[in-house]
Amino acid sequence: MCGIVGIVGHQPVSERLVDALKRLEYRGYDSAGVATIDGGALHRRRCEGKLVNLEAKLKEQPLAGTIGIAHTRWATHGAPTERNAHPHFTDGIAVVHNGIIENFAELKDELTAAGAEFQTDTDTEVIAHLVARFRRGGMGRREAVHAMLKRVRGAYALALLFEDDPSTIMTARNGPPLAIGHGVDEMFLGSDAIALAPFTNEITYLIDGDWAVIGKTAVHIFDIDGKSVTRPRQVSMAAAHPIDKGNYRHFMEKEIYDQPEAISDTLSHYINFLDNRVVEVSGDIAFANVQSLAISACGTAYLAGLIGKYWFERYARLPVEIDVASEFRYREIPLSPQAAALFISQSGETADTLACLRYCKEHGLKTGAVVNTRESTIARESDAVFPIFAGPEIGVASTKAFTCQLAVLAALAVAAGRARGAVTEKEEQILVERLAEMPRVMAQVLDSIQPKIERLSRELAKCRAVLYLGRGTSFPLAMEGALKLKETSYIHAQGYAAGELKHGPIALVDENMPVIVIAPHDRFFDKTVSNMQEVAARGGRIILITDEKGAAALKLDTMHTIVLPNVHEIIAPMIFSLPVQLLAYHTAVFVGTDVDQPRNLAKSVTVE
Ligand code: G6P
Repeated sequence: MCGIVGIVGHQPVSERLVDALKRLEYRGYDSAGVATIDGGALHRRRCEGKLVNLEAKLKEQPLAGTIGIAHTRWATHGAPTERNAHPHFTDGIAVVHNGIIENFAELKDELTAAGAEFQTDTDTEVIAHLVARFRRGGMGRREAVHAMLKRVRGAYALALLFEDDPSTIMTARNGPPLAIGHGVDEMFLGSDAIALAPFTNEITYLIDGDWAVIGKTAVHIFDIDGKSVTRPRQVSMAAAHPIDKGNYRHFMEKEIYDQPEAISDTLSHYINFLDNRVVEVSGDIAFANVQSLAISACGTAYLAGLIGKYWFERYARLPVEIDVASEFRYREIPLSPQAAALFISQSGETADTLACLRYCKEHGLKTGAVVNTRESTIARESDAVFPIFAGPEIGVASTKAFTCQLAVLAALAVAAGRARGAVTEKEEQILVERLAEMPRVMAQVLDSIQPKIERLSRELAKCRAVLYLGRGTSFPLAMEGALKLKETSYIHAQGYAAGELKHGPIALVDENMPVIVIAPHDRFFDKTVSNMQEVAARGGRIILITDEKGAAALKLDTMHTIVLPNVHEIIAPMIFSLPVQLLAYHTAVFVGTDVDQPRNLAKSVTVE
């Protein structure tokens, strides 16, 4: 989703602004722009499409200036054209915005009636017009920005430049995150600390309702009532993680292969390998006493939560209520304060998940965040934080964050089982021993399956639709497989509980329809095999992802088989994720899509 950067400096900024935007590319965007002040005037360059276009334009028409703001836009209101790209200029004011101004239509009518001429189809432009109107009415810059903030409703991270003040950037946050970076005689602004990592690791995060005036050497922060406030300055870990693809073609490929190491990092925080026990991490959530668990999340994180539900119910005998966050927040679920709530989010900034967290807190539930970014809003606002230690995930399609979320959920489920007396010490040790095997098995699988996956992906790339089936934890994994494939290759795919096949999707099965069946040799295996036979009987093309025991138990001529090592059921979802992710990745490469930044998708979804 949109990315914002700003620099108040003493050296030229335009190149550095674009470099910082590149570090936000992972969020997903469809146009970009940069504005500076030079010679007492605002200047800008904007482009449709990727940052290479903006760079080419800047090469032809460079932008001077030591102060500037820049933006990658993920279109919400108005097509992703140059005309709609930010920064927007009105009466000597430049603005970039991430979020949605919900009352923009009403404001636009009001401003138009008062003579404003709009140049774009965006909701954002009302911000510049409002500030301009307040200034014409005699207000100073700060006063005008404050007055504008009181009129707009919705989600925003904003940065504004004023032609008549070449020494400050004004900024405001209500929803999407903003980080202010402290440099030497220079200050920075970014949608996250990763964008600012080359410049500084000293960061101040704004909180909702804050607005600020950033100068070269200082920042003044105010709350929505205009009272001066201070926010802590902290050292960000973002710079510790280099962001490059190494020898891989895409971030997604690298991140798939990062998994053995990432999972090992994750587990080392949740497991004591000396005695094979789960570390006591539950913090403010007393699993022993809670009566149920409510989980909400979006996208891949939601599917991780669905797998977690099976574990919490099985190992901790803890009933789980789970829903996608956009539904959860409006369902009016009767929540008991005896329940605890978990929020799963790679970014820790997803608007719907954050809204669920606030909703649960209002209802008196203890809250826990399974996040990749400990500095994120969801982490900061939760009672307990369960970091996943996946390192930065740049590919829009989540891979290593998914398996690290699963590793944390598995460890938490075992911890909850121990606290509730649902698993014995012996059972806990067995489960932990199996979890500890994961990095080794993952490395072994990644070493061996690629050639076969590539051959199958070449065929999948020619298909129009694909069905994924699974039972137990393989059902949510089937949904994740389908999600991954459609996100990256734009091929329609759907994941179903294998038992539901007969209730609808079987109507689609014919010789053109690949059906990917995820079936470890577990207690559901025979039932899944029956469903496969139903597909085979109708000429369906089956790709079976199973383990050695499953492959030995079953031979079907019409079938391709991807065979994985036999593993314990608690690690099967993570191990079986690998072929599922690689199939999506290689299919996308054969289709020729923009694998790391698939069309229309955003990594961090900070609007409803
Ligand atoms: C977007 C991303 C997905 C991600 C989802 C939730 O849709 O493209 O990969 O799973 O948001 O994001 P979160 O940061 O909350 O895990």
